[in-house]
Amino acid sequence: MREHIYNQNPIGVFDSGIGGLTVVREIRKKLPNESIIYFGDTARVPYGTKSRETIIKFAREDIKFLLTHNVKIIVSACFSVSSNALPNLVSEFDIPIIGMISPGVEAVKGKSYKSIGVIGTQATIESGMFEKKLKESLGTVRIHSRTCPLFVPLAEEGWNRGRVPHLVAEEYLSPLVKKGIAALILGCTHYPILYSVIKKVIGNEVDIIEPGKVVANMIKDFLRENCMESQGNGSLKIFLSDIPRGFTSVAKNFLGHPVEDIHLALSE
Ligand code: DGL
Repeated sequence: MREHIYNQNPIGVFDSGIGGLTVVREIRKKLPNESIIYFGDTARVPYGTKSRETIIKFAREDIKFLLTHNVKIIVSACFSVSSNALPNLVSEFDIPIIGMISPGVEAVKGKSYKSIGVIGTQATIESGMFEKKLKESLGTVRIHSRTCPLFVPLAEEGWNRGRVPHLVAEEYLSPLVKKGIAALILGCTHYPILYSVIKKVIGNEVDIIEPGKVVANMIKDFLRENCMESQGNGSLKIFLSDIPRGFTSVAKNFLGHPVEDIHLALSE
């Protein structure tokens, strides 16, 4: 029998800030043996309002930081990066890089939805990348997309129930529901925090698609197929370019448990 080969190096995950911890939460659930090095560019967040050139430049620096930690694969948890910079990054770096657009597309494949809603930051929606990839993969599907900028501060405030988030969600999502969407892709790291209010507004007939859940499965398959899985107990080490005020409570909300191993990544 062939001996199983393992690779104990960590998975590198980066995001513009804290939001990517919602993706880390899903990865840890599905891959408990894997260690994760997380880099959040909290000093320069948000990316979602920045130009494509700046997003590419920042993402390149984020990846270079993760490479100093001998990561075996990189996950761009940030949808703004994944939609604006992924092809550039993939061709520049000699390491597997997985973004958040293909997991979103993968999740709706074979479901025969006629009409799909996509929500995200300005950078993600204006890139048109979800629309392009969804149409390439599904053919004649109708896509209705929109930006939901107020969801980001609401999620960071932990303000995920009650009148205010409900009103905001209604304002953003009712027009999509009126268009008859059958599924809604949550195209931003922060939106899973508002899952229940989003569900209430869009109703049970519309499926919610969380690419974070799918990316975890994709990483799992990739590591298995390439003999790159780890053995033992996985750990999580968090690096941030700034430790913002109130970070620990926001991070706990995003990750689902208290954060412990936090470091400041100083860049000169
Ligand atoms: N992480 C970003 C994203 O998923 C949201 C926050 C930002 O604008 O940087 O697009």
